[in-house]
Formats: sequence, structure tokens, C-alpha cells
Amino acid sequence: MATGCVAAGERTSASNELCVRRQLVLGKGGSSCKFSNRSLKRLPSALSSEKVLMMASAWERKYHHSDLEKAAAFLPGLLAEDSLQSNCYSQPIDGVLLFADISAFTTLTEKFIQRSGTERGTDELVQTLNCYLCDILEEVLTFGGDILKFAGDAVLVLWRTLHRELAKTISLVLQCSRQIQKKYGSRDTPVGQKVRLKIGISAAPMSLVVFGDRDWRYFCICGQALHEVCEAHELADPGDVVLSATSWELCEQHRLRTKHLAGKRAVKVTGMDQMSRSERQEALRKLVRHPLSHRLEGEGAMRPTRVLSNRPKLVEMFRKYIPEAALRKLDDRLPLDLFSELRPVTSLFVHLQLSADIISTAEVFEFLHSASRMLLEILSPHKGEVNKVLLCDKGCTFLCVFGLIGEKLPYKSLHALQSAVQIFNSFSTMFGGKKAVSVAVTSGMVFCGITGHPLRNEYTVLGQKVNLAARMMVRYPGLVSCDAATYAASRLPPYYFKELPERKMKGIIRPGTIYQYVGVTKASILDMSLTKERSEYAPLLGREKEIDLFVSCLKAYKDFGQSHILAFEGTMGSGKSHLLAELASLGQAAGHRVVAMELLEVNVRQSFSALRKLMAKALGLQDCELRSDKERVLQAKLEGIIEESSYCLLNGIFFVEFPVSDKVRKMCEPQRLMELHSTWAKVLEKVMGGEFGIFVIDNAHFIDPASWSIMSPVLQNVSSFMVMSLAPGYVRTEAFCKAAGDSAMSQNITYCHLDKLKSSAVVQKVCQDLGVVSISRDLARFLIQRSLGIPYYCEELLRCLRRNDMLLFHTRRRGEKAEGSWESLIAMSSSSAGSDGRVCTIRPDVNLENTVLPVTLKEIALSQLDQLKPLKQTVLKYAAVIGPVFTTQLLLHVLPADMRHKVNCVLTMLVKDNILKWLKNTEVPEDVQDPTKRPGTSVQAESDVETPALRMTVVQQSGALAFRVVLLQEAAYQLWPKRQRVALHRTCAAFLERHAHKCKSCGQGEFVAFHRFAVTSTQDGGRCQGSADQGDSRSWETLVLAGEQLKRDRTHATEGRPVAKSEQTTEVPSKADGKDSGACSCECKAIVESVLVPLARHYMAMGDAARAFYYLLECAAAYLHVSNSDMALVKLNEAEVLRNSVDKKANVIARFEEATLFSLKGEVCYRMGRMELAKKMILEALSLLKRKFPRTTVGALVKSQVEKLQCAAYVARRAASLPQEARRKRLAWLLQQSCCLSLLEQLFSLEGTSSRQTFSRLAARMKANTDRAADSCRAADAHRRGGDELI
Ligand SMILES: Nc1ncnc2c1ncn2[C@@H]1O[C@H](COP(=O)(O)OP(=O)(O)OP(=O)(O)O)[C@@H](O)[C@H]1O
Ligand SMILES: [Mg+2]
Repeated sequence: MATGCVAAGERTSASNELCVRRQLVLGKGGSSCKFSNRSLKRLPSALSSEKVLMMASAWERKYHHSDLEKAAAFLPGLLAEDSLQSNCYSQPIDGVLLFADISAFTTLTEKFIQRSGTERGTDELVQTLNCYLCDILEEVLTFGGDILKFAGDAVLVLWRTLHRELAKTISLVLQCSRQIQKKYGSRDTPVGQKVRLKIGISAAPMSLVVFGDRDWRYFCICGQALHEVCEAHELADPGDVVLSATSWELCEQHRLRTKHLAGKRAVKVTGMDQMSRSERQEALRKLVRHPLSHRLEGEGAMRPTRVLSNRPKLVEMFRKYIPEAALRKLDDRLPLDLFSELRPVTSLFVHLQLSADIISTAEVFEFLHSASRMLLEILSPHKGEVNKVLLCDKGCTFLCVFGLIGEKLPYKSLHALQSAVQIFNSFSTMFGGKKAVSVAVTSGMVFCGITGHPLRNEYTVLGQKVNLAARMMVRYPGLVSCDAATYAASRLPPYYFKELPERKMKGIIRPGTIYQYVGVTKASILDMSLTKERSEYAPLLGREKEIDLFVSCLKAYKDFGQSHILAFEGTMGSGKSHLLAELASLGQAAGHRVVAMELLEVNVRQSFSALRKLMAKALGLQDCELRSDKERVLQAKLEGIIEESSYCLLNGIFFVEFPVSDKVRKMCEPQRLMELHSTWAKVLEKVMGGEFGIFVIDNAHFIDPASWSIMSPVLQNVSSFMVMSLAPGYVRTEAFCKAAGDSAMSQNITYCHLDKLKSSAVVQKVCQDLGVVSISRDLARFLIQRSLGIPYYCEELLRCLRRNDMLLFHTRRRGEKAEGSWESLIAMSSSSAGSDGRVCTIRPDVNLENTVLPVTLKEIALSQLDQLKPLKQTVLKYAAVIGPVFTTQLLLHVLPADMRHKVNCVLTMLVKDNILKWLKNTEVPEDVQDPTKRPGTSVQAESDVETPALRMTVVQQSGALAFRVVLLQEAAYQLWPKRQRVALHRTCAAFLERHAHKCKSCGQGEFVAFHRFAVTSTQDGGRCQGSADQGDSRSWETLVLAGEQLKRDRTHATEGRPVAKSEQTTEVPSKADGKDSGACSCECKAIVESVLVPLARHYMAMGDAARAFYYLLECAAAYLHVSNSDMALVKLNEAEVLRNSVDKKANVIARFEEATLFSLKGEVCYRMGRMELAKKMILEALSLLKRKFPRTTVGALVKSQVEKLQCAAYVARRAASLPQEARRKRLAWLLQQSCCLSLLEQLFSLEGTSSRQTFSRLAARMKANTDRAADSCRAADAHRRGGDELI
């Protein structure tokens, strides 16, 4: 038996594992995979995902003996060892080609997105597609097919065989195709769109061509067989199998029933006489494949790539075929299931038409080889990646991606557009004119990861924007087109684009405006202005310090002619442009001439662009429409400064045409260049040192090196005042920063870092942008926390909230009081201080925790994340599921076993990178030798990144950590596809539930007494039970630490802004809270933040409404326990929103839970002084608890008599007779009733009238009876427990 074969006895387990593996890598199990579905059903639902993870790793261990083998699934068997060793080449092959394509894939994508939004929709789409593809491919593999290429929703498969075996092989492929059509030819999807399959088959001469450059290799099939298979596929209707002309001639026609297609030589196969089992085996045996191909299962299935030995040279060659993003993950030995993510990327499709004279294989090879080399050369500096190369009868298509893991540059859409133009120009020159080339660019959230089958898959991008780019490439030929998202994200001025007419694109519902990217033109070269004038901005807030600095520097310049550069450094969106616009206007108001300009990213690569812009603006060329006007202005302004014979040097620069002087004509190139430099310098000196006062350069980090080489000495010689903005991370910025620190230069340069806006300024800005006088506290907290005080982030978040209709506007009038409803209490409690007028709050049914980060902010966070190694990113992704603050114990619990030993080292590095911070002093190293203190840890990992210094420093073993930037945590979290995310939430919940109780000093029970006994077993089904272990007390301590931080984050977010009176009491017990104030110093305060609130979030993310509701109630009860009525109110509101969102008929929320909601609401109202509302709530709770309280005096008197008759002995007997579970459940009900009655007694007694006193006494009596019953239950419980202990 061949190496790697699965013996008969192993078959079941192998196929089982295969199926489970399929589930893991590719999404949900397909219908053909019966075992997987059954086996998973058998697993308790709470554990199934973890089990799947474990089994997947087992599968990986078994089948992937080496990382190389894991990687082998990325390649077809055709690229065997011998061919891998050689360089680029072409090779004729014989065989049968099959092209299968899923119809209506674009429509399907649109429907998923329409139904679930971009992110969830894409996730669901990929799950559906993978599931379908996997079923089809399993059939293909079983019939011995070698999967050559994936093209989104299509696959190209080869059955390589000897020429004399073609007829039999065609029958084999036909049988496979018919079986696929029979089983999977049509499938329903969750969005109601049926997907169907079209299959074309051909058998004719073909060749394999392998091409690329030194680092990357690609392969394609070319020749007649490819043309024919494309044609056959095009002739097929959904559900059909079409045989191409040549394959029809070659096949065993006697077996087939066919239908001729009008005017074509290809035929549609409508029936066939099946091959016998032995015939089929014989045909399989005769396929050409490597003798060491893996046998999979059943009779035919073969692993497409044979086991490769780990020979370094071979490995190197092999790696060249695998996309870089996948390689990075492979190199970090990440399990395959961690390859897939949802990411914002820019996709670029290039289509090259094959001219009619490119026919022979050698010509095709040459064409592909040069095209790919050129493409790689252009993409490389822009960090774009070629993801796939597809060849068809109409030409060649390249899919390139910008923004994959580790490849994110800021302004990636701009890089994509620049590459697009370069590609377009180079390809048009090289391959027969502009008409032959089409380039389309789109940006948006897509799935980046693995599709196909576990044995043969690819790393690619899938999603709505990928489909759109593919369609645009076809519908807008002969130009560079881009979508509106790319246009906006490039942040280029409009004159770089031209709006294109709307064209119908198959399957695409709303493509938005499509633009042509025209690139750098005369207009863009001579554009001189700031993008926005000051008048276009709203008032500048919180920049008093910067303005003062400007005023004092300006004064020094004016009074003493002191030359100065005032540089403001700030991150993207920190408000540099706005500040500079303000300063420019202040300078103008002070009577100075101000020359202001903005540079763009594109300028840094255009020599002399900064200088050209500066001078054009200073010389006043912006007002000249005609060339002659420009020439006149230049002559007038430069007279006496440069020689007339040098004017012609300015020709190319300002698009003028001065006659070329003899002097210049005679110069050799270096001389000309020198002359040009000195001319520039003279002009600049005149421009800067003369009458012109203040120079404002926005984005000075984009000054190109050529300009700077001239500007720098001039700035030292002339007296000028320059104000500039700089972004961190650029060479120029660093140079200025260094110069400012240099004692010789520091007098001339002031380098000022733009701080984040203060909380009060953020709130002011939001009010200003929304046109309201005040905003609610939760909205303020959300925006302050997420925006980090960066105005642009704040605007983006606000835009996102508005777009999703999450805000509510209403008018508040003086003296307005809360009405007697719960909703008005919520509204009042969340409004902050402010004068009367329009106010803005969050819609009551919106949970801000679930807000998806706007793509723009995600991009910013991801570009930071992508500077980290995949392993660090992966650890952060796991941590992100836990939350912005996490404990090491929980992190270790969620990480896959084979990553745990690396975690300490990675965390230490992440702290060093300033991504995370420890929440306690880490200076004292723990004893690294003590194994009991360091469960499952080792520092030998990551030898490639770990420095000896690091090894020597602290190795923190347990503790709590926090993300320094919440945005990063959110962006990392949102990379997870849903299925994996849910599994991780489940694991987190299982861990946290062990700690979901009060602290020791408060008695450790639940916050709602006996809560978990009160929920029925069906509702408890999803509970993630975890068993307590020895590490629990350590874990508790760390959770307390984490909780304290979370609480600080929550309360400090709104610090420093004007707060309402009510707000100041947020964390301080109010009068009514006074009785509980003693509890405030206990650990419960922290536990609610680090255990209960996250638990509600985890269950919510898992879609388990009952458990989420349970923990929201626990949160509310816990907040009341620690005297924080405001937060209790927030949590009860969340619970109410959740309750309203679930199907009432499904009985998701138990009656006891409903009652508890009302009871807690009553308590909150009471503590907030809303007595009437409190009473209403408590009465509702009592009624739900089946302990009705009379509403009339007569009723009260009658009820009073009844209560008197309550027989204590009977109650005790009844309690004793109940089984333990039921008794505890009853206890929960009784305790809840007692709570309500006690509150009711107080509420009535506060009113003072005699009738109210009657009610108060009745409540007291009912409470006494209830308490007695509860005591009996407790006694019976204690008695039973004592008995159990005796036994
Ligand atoms: N101090 C401020 N008060 C109010 N709004 C501000 C303030 N600073 C910036 N903004 C607003 O925030 C947005 C982003 O600011 P701006 O464009 O000036 O940032 P930037 O630092 O220049 O960004 P980039 O790095 O992308 O050029 C603008 O809409 C601006 O009006
Ligand atoms: Mg700016």
C-alpha cells in the first residue's frame, strides 16, 4: 500500500475526521457528510464547537506530518516534485478538463448582504459557498480529479491520463459530473436563492505553463482544451453537463444519450450507461499521478498532492506558489482554522485581452511571463499581492489584493489606484493598446481565508466587493475604474477621477457611482490649495494652547524677523488640517500674506512636487488659466532674479513654453540639473524671503526628497515663518523631530505634538456636529471612550450611529419632569446637563456594545495590528474576544493548546510594543523555575522574535492586561468569522461562570438569590458549565483586578466634562442607596464588571437570549448590591430591549425572569425616588410571582384575614416533601416575593395615610408568611444536606 494510505480499519475514523475537519476549515458540514452532522448532533451543543476544534487539530496532526504537507493542500497534484524543481517552463499534457461554475453567485452574495449586512452577510455567504463547494469537490476527489484552480464560485479540474485512455477517462469524468449534478446540481440557500451548477468538459491538446519571477510562481493551463472547456461551460444551462466538440469525438459515444446544440459541435449529455465498478477502478488506476499520492477513502479519492519530503530546496520552490498572506500564517505554524478573517481590503482586477496572434504555447508562456513579472514589479512597493491568475479563452485575469494580513499600508486604496494606473499604462504599451487592458478597483469588507476542501483549498478573498470589481472589469473595459468606496478612501481631490455612466452589471443590485481614475494630470500637479478653507470647518475646539504658541511665534517673527518653523505633529484625523486652516486665517487677519498648501501622499513620489506647488501658489500662478498668462506672471515676478536664458528650465515644471536658450541647449544633463537646482533655489529665496509672510504646509511629511534638498538650505538662509503639520511614522517627521531636539536648531524649530481633545471638547464637538444642546451620558461615554479624543474618529463614530439610525433627538423644556413611565426614567437618567433645547440620546432599543466599528476606523486599527507578526496578532485576536481587559488565565483557557506555551513571551512583547499593558506591577519577576506557578508555560517559543534581553526580563505568569487602545481590540475582534467567534464566546462563558457569584465577604451566592435554581432546565440547557479547579482563587483575584480597571475605564471616560448634577452621584450612594453603602468596598464591585457584564455579552454573541437575560438581571442585581442604581438602570434597559426582541411565543424568557426584571425595576425606581413607578413595578412583579397583592382597601382587609390563617406547620411539611431542586426553585420564588413585599411595605408606609398604612401592614404580614415559608425550605434543605453528609 502506498505511504499514507488509510487502511480499511481506519477508514471510518479517517472519514469521520475528514468530515469534522471540513466543518472546521470550510464552515458548516455539507449534506453529503452524514457522519459529521450526526456526530455533532450527538455532542452536547455547548461542547460541540470545542470538540470540533480538538478533532480538527487531531486531523491535522494525523494528515499533516509536516507543515509542508499542510501547505501542500494549496497546490494541485499536477505540480509534482520534478516539475517544482525546475524554473519557469511549459509542458504538454494529456487529459480531460472539467469546468464547474455555480450560477447566480453574485445574486446570492447580494442577498446575503441585504439580509445580514456586509460583515455577517459575507460570513454567511462564505459558509454557504464552502459547504456547497466542499460537497462538490469531495465528489471530484473521489473520482480522482486533480483540482487545478478556484475562481470564486468556479473550479477547474484535470484528469490527467495517457492519450490512449482519453475515451475511458471522459466516461469517468462524465459519470462524476452526472453524479454531482444529481446530488448537488441545485441547492436551496438560507436567503431563498437557489444555486445551480453548470458543467463543461473538454479533452484536447493542452499545456501546463509555469511563470513568475524570482520570488513568486504561477501556473495556468492553456491550449485548445481550455478554449473548449470554456465554450462548453458557456453553452451549458444550470443543471447541464456539456461535452466539448473534441471530447464528443473522442468519447465512448455508445454509452451516452445526448442532445445536440443548435449550430454547435458540442453536445449536452442527457443520460449515460454507468461504468461498472471494475471499469471505474481500472480507469482510476490508469490516471497519471504520482505513485505516492495519498489515498483518501473509498475507492477513488486521492489526495491531490502527494506527501513531499522536507528538502530545503524543494520547500523553497514550493513556497513560491502559495500566497504570501497564507505563507505568513503557515510560517507561524497557525492551525488552518485561524487563517480566515473578515477584513477591509482593496481588490484590483486586471484583464488582459489575448491578441489573436498569440496562439502557440510558447507565445502564451511569453505573454504570461512578462505580464506577471511586470505586475509583480509594480505591486511590490505598494504592498499588493497577486492572489490568482486565471486564463480563459478571452484573455488573462489577475486578481491582486491590497491590505491582507501583514500587508497593510496606510492609504492602501491610494496605493491600489496608483498601481492600477501603472499597470494600465505598462500593459497597454506592452500588449497592444489601451483597449486590450481593463483594471477595476474596489474597497470593502471581504472574507480573506480558505475556501475549497480540506485536502485541496486555496487562500483567497470573497465578497460583494470582489464580485463588483470582477463585473466592473468587464463592463468598463479599456480604463481604470473604481468604486465609490475606493474614491472616498483614497482621499484624493475630485479631479483625479471622472464619473462614469451607470451600466447594468449582472447580479449587482446597487453598485454606487463608478469612477474612472485618471491619475496625475496637469490640474493635480498644479493644485495648490488647502483642501478646505477655514470657513468650511466648524469652530475649532480645545486648541487654545496651539493657537497661543502660534501667536507668540508670529510675534517673535514680526518683531525680530526671527525665522521659525512651527511643526504640529498628530496622527491621522487628529485635526492638523483644521488647526492649520485656523492659523492661516489668524495670520491673514493679522495682516500677513499667507501662502497655504496641502500635500498628498502621491506627492512624495513626484520629484519637485512640493516645491512646484509652493512656488506656483506664492507666485500667483493659480489665477492663470492660459499658458501665456502664466508666462507673463513668471516673467514679471522673476525679472532680475534669474537670467532670462534660464526661463526655459521652468517649462516642464509649470507647463509653460519659454524658448529654449542656447545656453541651456548646450548643457549636458548633469549641468542642466545643476542649473535647474540653482534656479529653483533663487526663485525660492525670492518667494520666501521677500514680501510673503507665512507659509503653511499641511502634510509636510509628504515633501518629496528632491524638493527638500532645495528647500532645506534656503530655509536656513532666509527669514521666514513656516507652519506645518506632520504625521508620525514618516522619515521627514522624524527629521523635524530630531532637528527640534538638536540644540543648534531648536531655536528655529518648535515641534508640538497635537494632544487628543479633552472629554469636554469631545462632547462640545458632538453637540456642535449634531446641532443639539446636550447629549446623553451613555452616548458621551461611548464617543469619548472610542474616539480616544481624536476628532476624526469621533466624527466617523457619529456618522456610523446616524447611518444606522441609532440616535434619537428630542426637545427638552425648562422644568420638564419625568413622566410616570419607565421609558421616561431611562430618557431622563441618560440625559446630561445642559440648557433647554434639542437633545440627543441613544435609541432605547440600541445596545452600543454591539455597534460594529466603522470601516474607516477598522482600517486604521488594522494597519497598526498588521505591523505585528501573525502570532502576536493571533494572541490579540483571542484576547479581543474576552474584552478590552482580560486575565491571563482566561486567555490561556481560550487559546489552542499548542499556542499556550508561547503566550507569556508574546504577551511580554505586546506590552513592550505598547499594545497591551499589565494592570499590576510587573517589576518583580516571578520564579520562573516554579512549575506550579507557571502552568503550561515556556519561553523557548518564538525563538525568531524573542531577544535574549526579553528572556531575562520579567515573565509575568498571571495577571490582568488591558488593550491600550480599545479600537484595536474591537478591530481584532471583528476579524473573527462568526462560527469561530461563537465557539470562543462559549469557552469564555464556561470559564467565567465559575466566578459568577458574590465575593466571600458577601456570602458568595448569586445576586438574585437562588437565581439559577429558578430557571427551568430547558433554559439552562445552554449554560456553559465549567468545573472549579485549584487555580480559581488566583483567577478570582485577577478578575477583581481586571474589574477594577473596567470600572475605572467606565467612570473616567466622562471625566473632565461638564456633568449633570445627577451624574456626579453615579458611583456614590444616593440617599436611598445609603443602606447598602457598606457593601461598596467589597469585591463584588469589580466582579460585576469583569464577570457578569462580560457573561451577558458572551451569551448575547452566542445568540443565547435566555442566558444573556439571566446575566443582565444578575448584573442589575449586582449593581444594586454595590449601590449603583444608574448602572442597574442601564442593564435593566438592556434586558428589556432583549426581552422585546425575542419571540414572545417561544417562551425564551421564563416567568420568574420576567418577575425579577420587574422587581429589580421597582427597586431602581425606589432608589431614584420614583415611588409611584416603583409600586407599579413591584405589583407587576408580585403578580408574575403568583402572589397577587390587592388593589382595594376591602381586598386588603380580606387578604389580611387569609394571611392570618396561613399554617406554618403545613408549609414546613410541604417544603420537606419536595425534591431538592424543586425546593430550591421554590426558595428562589419565595425570596423574590419577600423582596417585593418588603419594598412594598416601605413604599406604602412612606405615604402616611391610614388606608396606605393598611396596605403597608398587609405587605408586612404577607412578607412574614413568605419568610416563614422560605425558612422552612431552608431548614428542609439543611436537614436533607445534613442527612446526606451523614450517609
Ligand atoms: N479641534 C477641533 N475641534 C473641532 N473639530 C475638529 C477639531 N480638530 C479636527 N476637527 C474635525 O475633525 C475632522 C478631522 O480633522 P482634520 O482633517 O483636520 O485632521 P487631520 O489631522 O488633518 O487628518 P489627516 O491626518 O487625515 O490629514 C475634521 O472634520 C475637522 O473639522
Ligand atoms: Mg489633514
